[in-house]
Amino acid sequence: MGKAICSVKDLLSMLDELLKEESTFSWDEFYSKRDRNVPFFRNFPDENLVGYFKKGLLTSGIALELGCGPGRNAFFLAQQGWKVDAVDASHEALEWGMERARNQKIDVNFIQSNIFELDVADGNYDLVYDSGCFHHIPPHRRMSYLELIDKALKPGGYFGLTCFVEGGELGGSSISDLEVYKLRTMQGGLGFTEEKLRHIFRDYEVIEIRRMRQATEDERVFGVNGLLIALFRKRNAAHPTI
Ligand SMILES: C[S@@+](CC[C@H](N)C(=O)[O-])C[C@H]1O[C@@H](n2cnc3c(N)ncnc32)[C@H](O)[C@@H]1O
Repeated sequence: MGKAICSVKDLLSMLDELLKEESTFSWDEFYSKRDRNVPFFRNFPDENLVGYFKKGLLTSGIALELGCGPGRNAFFLAQQGWKVDAVDASHEALEWGMERARNQKIDVNFIQSNIFELDVADGNYDLVYDSGCFHHIPPHRRMSYLELIDKALKPGGYFGLTCFVEGGELGGSSISDLEVYKLRTMQGGLGFTEEKLRHIFRDYEVIEIRRMRQATEDERVFGVNGLLIALFRKRNAAHPTI
């Protein structure tokens, strides 16, 4: 007999299992072939993240990167003088990241963990950044994701996101949350629209939401048109939303 559901934690784990059973995808396997032509395997930071520094929106502080992969955005933040905790569940990704960090002599605190098992200190971070992890988070984990960024961020802190656009050229399934469970698949990653992001992150002030800018070869930044980028700001406790 299977385990009886007695708590929200049991329910979330059961839904994880439901989707996992249908999936054969492994991030460790994905990262084990480093020479494949995957755009985000190149060690360049997101064009929008670089832009926030150019515009003076981000200056200095402590950052938490969720689903950091082999660390390209974490390295950029560390090079701007930030203290960076970079989390990913994949051992292979972090091995690669730590190798890059050693070669480039950059200090990043890599943490191998499922983001939902992280024990973050309350209000510790000036920036939570996620490039490409959120669209792999199943709908039933979205509340935990929101709790995580809310707990991690200082009042006035920023949350930066890069995710699939719905029906985009790089992927981004347009199925509904209900269909995820009916079909038992996220079809390689969920797609979002500006409207959906505004709804999900409605407790945050929207700084910008737009398509990622296609970068040219010589810019040394990561920029592809099939993604959405967003920057939100956590409201100060003195001005809560109702
Ligand atoms: C598309 S990759 C992006 C990697 C990196 N941010 C980049 O842009 O180069 C998504 C990453 O999210 C990680 N990931 C997905 N779900 C996760 C979870 N629940 N906890 C931790 N990492 C997760 C995967 O291991 C993978 O490295």
